[in-house]
Amino acid sequence: MIVCKSAAELEAMHRAGLVVWDVLNRLRQAVQPGITTLDLERIAVQGAKEHSARPAFKGYRGYPCVLCASINQEVVHGIPSASRRLQEGDVISLDFGVELGGYYGDAALTLPIGTIRPEVGDLLRVTRESLDKAIDKVRPGNRLSDISSVVQQWVEKHGFSVVREFVGHGIGTKMHEEPNVPNYGEPGRGPRLEEGMVFAIEPMVNAGGPGVKVLDDKWTAVTTDGSCSAHFEHTVAVTSNGPWILTRPRDVVGASW
Ligand code: MF3
Ligand code: CO
Repeated sequence: MIVCKSAAELEAMHRAGLVVWDVLNRLRQAVQPGITTLDLERIAVQGAKEHSARPAFKGYRGYPCVLCASINQEVVHGIPSASRRLQEGDVISLDFGVELGGYYGDAALTLPIGTIRPEVGDLLRVTRESLDKAIDKVRPGNRLSDISSVVQQWVEKHGFSVVREFVGHGIGTKMHEEPNVPNYGEPGRGPRLEEGMVFAIEPMVNAGGPGVKVLDDKWTAVTTDGSCSAHFEHTVAVTSNGPWILTRPRDVVGASW
């Protein structure tokens, strides 16, 4: 069953989402050559604390940190470490979530470190665009797989691949609620979207083939072919006025994610 949230619940989810937005912005400003992913973890811990929000990932199925920081060929769930230092030309995917007042927010973005190869720049742009196109499908009366399908279409049209092993999800009083929101599939399938439904939509896109494997640390997912990967995510509500991005201020225009 997909739980629909009331207007008051969506406001509560927006409060959680704005904490996620603020923390990811702090991280965006901190990211530079020489910084370690453990430094970024500490910034995320401090940011959540200042908002009195509970980081959602730490302890989730035993995950050891509040932040996922995945570099280059790492797709998702990279564990912050003092030994992972960012270098010019890298890309880093930062995924962060909190619980505030009983409701969750979850978002991610991929950032370039200095100048990156043009094809990696294309990967980031196309992945971000695929999320925009997916968000535009979050309207009453559309079908769930309309979201999935538009991501796959846009990504494959540009010669990249969508990851199959990890998917987006419903979100609300739990970080992961029904339904799964895959980044691939035929349009026009699955439940019709209704006002108050909320989805964490999160395309994960590889420059090469779609294959991924999980490293011995049991968390870090990497591309099997070593190609670069990108990840963008927002928590988005279905409303009668169209999509409401809960992990961003209402009045933001022209945001890069
Ligand atoms: N955005 C990811 C998700 O929705 C983050 C989960 S990481 C975990 O699944 F550590 F919490 F598992
Ligand atoms: Co998520």
